Amino acid sequence: MKIGIFDSGIGGLSVLHEAYHQISGQEYIFFADTEHVPYGLKTPEQIVGYAIDITEFLINKGAEALIVACNTATSVAIKELRSRFDIPILGMEPAVKPAVEGTEDKRIMVIATPVTIREDKLKDLLHRVDGEHRVDLMAMPKLVEFAEREEFESEAVDKYLKDQFSGIDSDDYCALVLGCTHFNYFKPSYKKIFGKDTLLIDGNHGTIHHLADTLNLPINENQDKDIFFEDYHKMLGYEKTEYYFSKKYVEDEKTLEHLKTLHNRLEYVRKM
Ligand code: DGL
Repeated sequence: MKIGIFDSGIGGLSVLHEAYHQISGQEYIFFADTEHVPYGLKTPEQIVGYAIDITEFLINKGAEALIVACNTATSVAIKELRSRFDIPILGMEPAVKPAVEGTEDKRIMVIATPVTIREDKLKDLLHRVDGEHRVDLMAMPKLVEFAEREEFESEAVDKYLKDQFSGIDSDDYCALVLGCTHFNYFKPSYKKIFGKDTLLIDGNHGTIHHLADTLNLPINENQDKDIFFEDYHKMLGYEKTEYYFSKKYVEDEKTLEHLKTLHNRLEYVRKM
């Protein structure tokens, strides 16, 4: 089956990476909207426009199912996409439910882009699952830019996060929900602030599990086996992924090799 995955940028790679772990034998078309990143600082109307255009593009390229690998685009565009297009379309949402259900007592912090934090979709989710009001929300307007610069661990990243979290006591929190697919890359820095025991919870595992369920695809038994760069060729059908940067087919070896280093970063942070 050919599965389209799109995001504004490299955040969506974390979803593709999880798909490599959990299911095998599929083909992927990955689309990073590098011309319009960051979505989190755009208007909902702009984001809906990009999402429709990209979905059309991916369906024309043969996508039979689609993952909107972006919490921001899901917040504002998923309904519109499902009403216009006739293939299974899955979205991302901050993994608040597993965070609430998997922890007790202490508070839970959700970080996401300003659009995701503002939109009703997240408020509705909290209304449904956060009966005890344990969840706090914080927008991180600059983190996507750090990610796109591939500045994943630096003093500037640490300082930015420290400033953002300066108004809270990190000891009050048992879990940090990563409500933006770009935020996976920074796991070591969150640990520095919240400590090693705080859970870092993203929506990737749940989304891919849901995809497999929806499309009736078998789940890999060895899904937790580490997969670093060398293995892709051998066992994961890395070549069966076509990459597009805003409709431009990525074919030069240098960029493809570079994308593998990002997958390796994602492997490194996956179990943190
Ligand atoms: N990766 C996207 C998300 O999950 C947002 C990135 C952006 O702001 O462009 O929300």
